[in-house]
Amino acid sequence: MALWKNPRWFDDRGRQEQLDDHVTATGRARFGLRTLQENEKVRAVMHHFNRVAPKYDFMNTLLSFGIQYVWKRAAVRMLGIRPGEKILDVCGGTGDLAILASRRTGPSGRVLIYDINWQMLTAGRPKIDPHPALANIGYVQGDAERIAFPDNSFDVAMVGFGIRNLTHLQRGFSEMHRVLKPGGRILCLEFSRPANPLFRTLYDFYSFNIMPLLGGLITGASQSYACLPETIRMFPLPDELSALLGRIGFQRVDYRVFTNGIAVAHVGVKRG
Ligand SMILES: C[S@@+](CC[C@H](N)C(=O)[O-])C[C@H]1O[C@@H](n2cnc3c(N)ncnc32)[C@H](O)[C@@H]1O
Repeated sequence: MALWKNPRWFDDRGRQEQLDDHVTATGRARFGLRTLQENEKVRAVMHHFNRVAPKYDFMNTLLSFGIQYVWKRAAVRMLGIRPGEKILDVCGGTGDLAILASRRTGPSGRVLIYDINWQMLTAGRPKIDPHPALANIGYVQGDAERIAFPDNSFDVAMVGFGIRNLTHLQRGFSEMHRVLKPGGRILCLEFSRPANPLFRTLYDFYSFNIMPLLGGLITGASQSYACLPETIRMFPLPDELSALLGRIGFQRVDYRVFTNGIAVAHVGVKRG
């Protein structure tokens, strides 16, 4: 038996299984190592985030050595947010991206954190509610696959580390496209595959062994942290995601790679 776990990255076919066509055709959806009925995944994702919500920010900071804040800041900068803009933070969780965006829109703008999980929204509120400068942030509980806003409502729609949790991720992007005004911008910040093979091996060891261990010790939910790296390894690679966003209707799609590819930020514009 191996001393440590080091599962491989998915190939093209494996990554296709994350996409809507495969999920709809088979009636099955992957969540990490588990294969679920299509209609069960959303409940599994809820259960996962209910468990991790109270310690979500702390664990993210610990497991990423704080570097996730650097990625988030750089990604939000790519949007070129202007004062007065209306922004939707899809799968916004505890609101890190929303806080960064709110500072750029100023009081004349509006930022809504949109998340299916009330416990995640609640866990972020102490970072936001006491600060008058962040009073332009609001909270909406809802499903990213059926965004509860009319067409052409927002200047910016952004999603950070959330889209790969959806059962139908293309539907999620289509919904973001629908609620954007023509000319509106999308940001997708997600984990990806490190480019350097040696670095990738170290990263794999860390993700499959250290992360679940620390997650288990600190939150008692090692299973929740074990499924994270699996969901990352199924997600479309940067060029695949660019092509997918193009098919959905975004133009001028571009991306920036962080920390050798551990995270990637895609931006694009809804055709005017
Ligand atoms: C990994 S967290 C990311 C939170 C935050 N965006 C960040 O960057 O730290 C993923 C979030 O997606 C939310 N989520 C998962 N499925 C969702 C869905 N179908 N609709 C809306 N939010 C969802 C979860 O509740 C969770 O808060």
